[in-house]
Amino acid sequence: MNAEETLKKVPIFSGLEGKHLKRLANIMVERTFKPGDVIVSEGDQGAGVFLISSGKVEVVRGEGQVLNTLGAGDFFGEMALFEGFPRSATVRAAEDTACLAMTRWDFRAELNQNAEVALAVLETVVRRLREADQKLSE
Ligand code: CMP
Repeated sequence: MNAEETLKKVPIFSGLEGKHLKRLANIMVERTFKPGDVIVSEGDQGAGVFLISSGKVEVVRGEGQVLNTLGAGDFFGEMALFEGFPRSATVRAAEDTACLAMTRWDFRAELNQNAEVALAVLETVVRRLREADQKLSE
């Protein structure tokens, strides 16, 4: 699957026109990871955001507590980019995983230009917060 086809399947970009998807596909870089590879490390400075095109990753904190598992169509790495804080958790590949990576600058420009994408990112972040709250009260 090429980058454009992958992006079409990512829910946050589902409202974008073809020419827009093409432009995005051109600025994103594909990266592949083996099971156990660390993609972002808790405490590091954030430089980019990742969209999973295939495979699975685990979001891990501290001594190894798994906060969540993400798969194809999900994104991660956005929190450090919004806040300018270090990475809030480590994300590691749980199986062979391919991601499309976007720099902080391109991500911010995208959110500035497209209210629909910004809203979709916000909806996902809010859903994750709800799920985290739910887990706390279980
Ligand atoms: P960031 O802090 O840049 O780097 C670690 C990433 O893990 C974070 O952005 C989010 O994308 C992701 N993340 C952190 N906590 C959770 C969670 N509870 N559920 C899903 N993803 C998370």
